[in-house]
Amino acid sequence: MSLPNLPSVIIRGTGAYTPENVVHNNDMAKTVDTSDEWIFTRTGIRERRFAAADETSSTMASIAGRRAMEAAGVHPEEIDLVIVATITPDMPFPSTACLVQHALGLKPITAFDIEAACSGFLYALRIGANMLRTGDFKKALIIGTEKMSSILDFSDRSTCVLFGDGAGAVVLSCGEGSDEGILGTLSGSDGSNPALLCQPGGGSRQPATATSIHARAHFLKMNGKEIFKVAVRVMEQASRDILKQRGFSPDQLDCIIPHQANMRIIESIASRLKVPMDKFYNNLSTYGNTSAASIPIALDEAVRSRRVNKGDLLLLVGFGAGLTWGASLIKWS
Ligand code: UT7
Repeated sequence: MSLPNLPSVIIRGTGAYTPENVVHNNDMAKTVDTSDEWIFTRTGIRERRFAAADETSSTMASIAGRRAMEAAGVHPEEIDLVIVATITPDMPFPSTACLVQHALGLKPITAFDIEAACSGFLYALRIGANMLRTGDFKKALIIGTEKMSSILDFSDRSTCVLFGDGAGAVVLSCGEGSDEGILGTLSGSDGSNPALLCQPGGGSRQPATATSIHARAHFLKMNGKEIFKVAVRVMEQASRDILKQRGFSPDQLDCIIPHQANMRIIESIASRLKVPMDKFYNNLSTYGNTSAASIPIALDEAVRSRRVNKGDLLLLVGFGAGLTWGASLIKWS
């Protein structure tokens, strides 16, 4: 919900980082019982990037964050808030945001992680924007980062071919009017069926033991068919709700950046919203599903390639484990 009496919040700059190591579907097929044809026709993915052994969620986040600050023309000492969205933190604690604070040479500012899986960046954007609107913070660095390869089960072909690694970031600060920048945000959750998409081991319910490791409980598990159906429903609804909140209709959108999970999901949403596919920005074929990093990586590409321009009405929409979902409606400035 937007706050009309409070200042607008503007995305001042974007940045992204994806690892150098490109893994094509044909490379996956050398070790997994799959094929380029199956993966591409079922998902739209051709290749993904897997991080090197010495790359982590915080190292990727730091590069993306530095690039976003450079694009925004903001110096590290000006940042007074860092929020990192990730389900693959460098370690359970301390937070990845603290590691980023140090790596970027930021002041001893407020830094914390949030966990909302693939919706994480949209949650972080909402939280960060509203923290700025209070006046308590001036310039925020909002990052989505994932090393999904660290939790993939490479003996499970139904999941390991879908995900990739990377990070995306934005710098936020307040603007003047109320009709520019982030016009509205929404987020939601339904925790009634966490097993649909989860990493069952490693938490307080199932701490790491020899048994949990043997049971491969520390890897991502997913009921793809169910998630697919829910994803289409919640992303359509979130899109409609946020447009309605701000008095817009789908045909007024210039660009939609959806969570990059499956091209068939994106096509279904396009058809339900009656928005042509050329309004959707997609880079799924190149990166696969990078979870919390997928929307900010795509946003950075769309901005740098001038697919998104000043004055455009832009919708970011995503869903993820939890279940969680989120949307952000932006007048690009
Ligand atoms: O960020 C949120 C993340 N999650 C998602 O967005 C996932 C949403 N779901 C999906 O994208 C799709 O459900 C999948 C791509 C995961 C699966 O597509 P599907 O059309 O639902 O396939 P399926 O699970 O029904 O499997 C069809 C067949 C099965 O073989 P049988 O039982 O028909 O003989 C699978 O064993 O495809 C087989 N299969 C594969 N074959 C080759 C599953 N994975 C693979 C694979 N390569 N990688």
